[in-house]
Amino acid sequence: MLPAMPNSLRIEHEQLREDLDQAIRIGGRIGEAARVLQSLLRPHFRREDDNVFLGLGLLRTVAEGKVTPGMSELVAKAEQLKSELPEMLAEHDQIRKAVERLGQEAIREGRPQVAFFAARLMRHASMEEEVLYPAAIVLGEYLKSLLVPAGAVPSNDRSRSMGVSPLV
Ligand SMILES: [Fe+2]
Ligand SMILES: [Fe+2]
Repeated sequence: MLPAMPNSLRIEHEQLREDLDQAIRIGGRIGEAARVLQSLLRPHFRREDDNVFLGLGLLRTVAEGKVTPGMSELVAKAEQLKSELPEMLAEHDQIRKAVERLGQEAIREGRPQVAFFAARLMRHASMEEEVLYPAAIVLGEYLKSLLVPAGAVPSNDRSRSMGVSPLV
């Protein structure tokens, strides 16, 4: 079974979604820029929630040395992220352009909260590129080295004996 995404990241995405909804409600040029951003952000966040952050839900457990055969499900998720990474980084480029426009409108119209939200979203994307995406990929590679025999396709079969420490 796949883990739940880490609470801190779930809350971060939720707060960014809420702040964006607030910017849309302001209306006018800010609302219009925020809507453009939302059309890019919605599918992107969904993909992150489904593919990137689920694996990170196990990062702490794995760092404690508790690896179980069932974690092999994450290997395929991490491989999917690896192959989709260029596309996800291209989405970040598009999102950054839309965020820049929203930030400019916010400054022009004297809305510091919206300008602050724009800066926060920029930082969020950088944190993903510098830390979270690589961490999810490294986690998948590590689990693969422990749980998937060389040359085998990643499997969800929990019944095989992997010779790993039981979860305590
Ligand atoms: Fe994100
Ligand atoms: Fe992202």
